[in-house]
Parts: sequence; C-alpha cells; structure tokens
Amino acid sequence: MKPKALITHKILPEALDYLKDHTEYEIGTSEEELPKTKLLEKIRDKQGVLPLLVDEIDKEVIDSAPSLKIIANCAVGYNNIDVAYAQKKGIYVTNTPGVLTEATADLTWALILAVARRIPQADAFLRGKKYKGWKIDLFLGKELSGKRLGIIGMGRIGKAVALRAQPFNMDLVYTDPHRMSPDEEKRFQAAFLHLDELLASSDIITIHALLTPQTHHLISGEKIRLMKKEAILINASRGPIVDEKALAEALEKGQIWGAGLDVYEREPGVEKRLLSLENTVLLPHLGSATYETRLKMSMIAARNLVQGLKGERPDNLVY
Ligand code: DGY
Repeated sequence: MKPKALITHKILPEALDYLKDHTEYEIGTSEEELPKTKLLEKIRDKQGVLPLLVDEIDKEVIDSAPSLKIIANCAVGYNNIDVAYAQKKGIYVTNTPGVLTEATADLTWALILAVARRIPQADAFLRGKKYKGWKIDLFLGKELSGKRLGIIGMGRIGKAVALRAQPFNMDLVYTDPHRMSPDEEKRFQAAFLHLDELLASSDIITIHALLTPQTHHLISGEKIRLMKKEAILINASRGPIVDEKALAEALEKGQIWGAGLDVYEREPGVEKRLLSLENTVLLPHLGSATYETRLKMSMIAARNLVQGLKGERPDNLVY
C-alpha cells in the first residue's frame, strides 16, 4: 500500500504525476485558501503533507495527524510551519532552497525599475488615452546610475540582487547578521554597513531577510524615519518584516519617495491606504512565479515528501 499524503493545493502536473507513482495523495482544495477546519480534517490520516506558504502548519495541525512523518513545504521560506515543534515530534520539515533565487532577484529588479521609472502608472496613463504628446516633465523618475543600493539580508537572493546591480553602476552596501569575507565583499562589490547607516544613506533599499521573531517589523516607523526623503523601499521577502501601516503613513506624507512590494503583512490582505497611493507598485507575491522555478519547486517538494515517507533523510531538511 502506498503512503497517504495531503497536497494542500494543486502543484504543477509533472510533480503530481511523480507523486501518483509513490503516494496515495489527496488535494486539499482547488481554492486559494484551505480553511483550518478542512486542513485538520484532511490531514488526520496522512503520513505526509506538502503545504504552500499560505498554509499554517501549527501545533494543532501537527497534533491532529498522529502518523505524520514529513512536512515538505513548497517554498524556500518556512515561517508558516512550527518547525521546533515538528522537530521535537520527530517529523521532518523540508523547503525548496536555491531554485527560486534567480527568479526572485529578477522580480526585485523589475520592482526597482517599475517604481523608479513609474512604469505601471505610465502604462495606465497611456491605456487611459491620456497621452496627448511628448512633454519634458512627463512621468519623471529616478536614475539608478551613481545611486546607492542597500541590501538588507545578504543570503542567496540578496547576493543575486547584488550581482545584477553591477551593470547599473550603483554603489552597493549591505547589512546582514553575518558579515561576508573580504573576498566575497570584493566579488559582490558590496560594503558592510549597520542597519541604521544603511537606511540613512541608501537611495534604494531592498529587503531579502528571513522572517523570524527578530526581523518582525525590522522596518518600523522609526526606521522608516531614518530613510532619505528620496528613498525607495522594496520588499520581496516576507511582509511582516515591514510595519505596513507605518509604511503607508510614510508614503502618504511623502517621507520617502516610493515603495515596491511583492509581500504583505496579512496576505492576501493589503493595507487599504497603499492601494490608493500613486507612489507604490504592488504585486501579488510573484517572486518565484516563473514556470521554470515553480516546476523546480514543485518537483523538489514532491521528492522531499517521498523521501520522508520512505523513512529516508530528505535532501532539504531545514534543521
Ligand atoms: C518562498 O518560496 O518562500 C517564496 O516566497 C515563494 O515565492
């Protein structure tokens, strides 16, 4: 008999084909959200679960599945899982590292350029038939060359963002709990700064940190007040790292120039005031949304799940 698994939401068909050979799986829902009551009911008799980042796998969920052996998250971030509790109960927890680095770094740059050059606003203007002719001051944006880019979190994605900055001829600074070696700093042409110095001196600030209790609201109202009036803030990591209300207030008051966000504090909810602001570009959590990356994420999560179900140590254990 094949082991039973819960795939909370549809993943790419190639991964489902693979899972069909190794598991007896059930898909939790075809909707965007799997309500907690349904999750608790469906996971009860399963040995493995493959959640997306929107599924909260907390103590209650873990306790409701007495035969659970593995939680194979289909994401690189795993703040949706009570990892410490799962580990205590001898349940494997895995993620999908590495494969979404390039896609997320590309999207970060798409956001930087979209905010700096006001691309969505200009596109809407033209489609709204408002373009009546070339004007010297139409949609003036910000030049990148010669400006300072500050990267918060110099992990895989932060580094990929840094490499893409080189042809833009930007001055690069970063902050991270682990300072890079002098050789690495040379390779990425990035100088280390403490957070406050980075915030006060950067023209564009981009966040690539993990969400942990220490980074929750790392970018608070107080930190935003350190930023330049001309600064642009980009977040393609996790929403709760930024105090969204404080950011909306700062953008409304013109305390900073603009923001590009791919993630929010309470997804899929978005702070209402952000929606009506002209100086923001808002995306629905698309960092890893390329076909290539989502296929790799689906396959890696599926393989981790099968390894765990077989009692093998999975490739991408998070602890
Ligand atoms: C992840 O995998 O953590 C990403 O946020 C998905 O886009």
